[in-house]
Amino acid sequence: MATETTGEARRPVILSGIQPSGRLMFGNYLGAMRNWVRMQEDHDCFYMLVDLHAITVWQKPADLRRNTLESLALYLAAGIDPERHTVFIQSHVPEHSELAWILNCIAPLGQLQRMTQFKDKSLKHEKNLNAGLLNYPVLMAADILLYNADKVPVGEDQKQHLELARDLAGRFNHLYSETFTLPEPWIPPRSEGARVMSLQEPTAKMSKSDTDPNGVLFLLDPPAEIKAKIRRAVTDSGDSIGYDPEGRPGVSNLMTLFKAVTGEDFASLEARFAGKGYGAFKEELGEALVAYLSPIQQRTRELLGDKAQLEALLKQGAEKARWRARRMLDKVQRKVGFLPR
Ligand code: TRP
Repeated sequence: MATETTGEARRPVILSGIQPSGRLMFGNYLGAMRNWVRMQEDHDCFYMLVDLHAITVWQKPADLRRNTLESLALYLAAGIDPERHTVFIQSHVPEHSELAWILNCIAPLGQLQRMTQFKDKSLKHEKNLNAGLLNYPVLMAADILLYNADKVPVGEDQKQHLELARDLAGRFNHLYSETFTLPEPWIPPRSEGARVMSLQEPTAKMSKSDTDPNGVLFLLDPPAEIKAKIRRAVTDSGDSIGYDPEGRPGVSNLMTLFKAVTGEDFASLEARFAGKGYGAFKEELGEALVAYLSPIQQRTRELLGDKAQLEALLKQGAEKARWRARRMLDKVQRKVGFLPR
């Protein structure tokens, strides 16, 4: 592990980001943000909103602006601490794009073309098959390598991209000299409620860009809407409460949500709702979700009400990130053979 020269022992570096390509939803919270908050205790954390990644798929400018600012407020409301850690917008730190270019020049085209997510997205976005989609994981590698991140909390679907980041780090170190830390993915265990499924199609992951809003619990959904979405959630045949993600994905997903916000385990839920049917269970779950989310929503509204303060925080975050990123990029550019400015 690389060491900083600040005198203090270096805490492991964590870095992660979410695309502001929609409104943040409960899956982002349980799968990412809640763990990020916990990791602040004993790591040096960098949390981003990756707007450069978001535009690989068409974003309406007004939506992108709103989603970026709203997501930032949600990060803070959820407990991410911008004083002790670094919270920023990817495009505010131009070093990400600069390092991405250099990494693109050592990234094998074949490896990029074989990325599962690229292949999926190429089919889905046939009409906007832009080069950004192909180079997306190289930019992600730049995000990670600029800060010498040790651990990168990501979903299962990003493991292949982490592999590429490690390959590029190794290749650069080999071609030039030891420069980058090889990052490890950190995939949250399922028991932490990491995988939240769609409320309408419980075999698919809940996604902020789902076209059916009934499938998605957005973090800023009003209380009545949260309850209504839970009431409308797809359940399985039968009416008992039982955890069986393969056989009964609908109820199991709702039980995961229940446990995530109240801590009540599956055995207790099964016993408590035995013979009561889905209705009572869903009512209580709706209430529990609203109780859990209300303080976060309240705080988010307060933050969004003070744009000047949010912008000051963004500026501070970008400056902190740039200071670190610039040092690394200077080193990289020197090693590549670029003349110093
Ligand atoms: N590709 C990631 C996703 O969609 C987002 C991302 C971009 C990211 N850069 C990153 C995640 C760096 C972790 C580290 O989930």
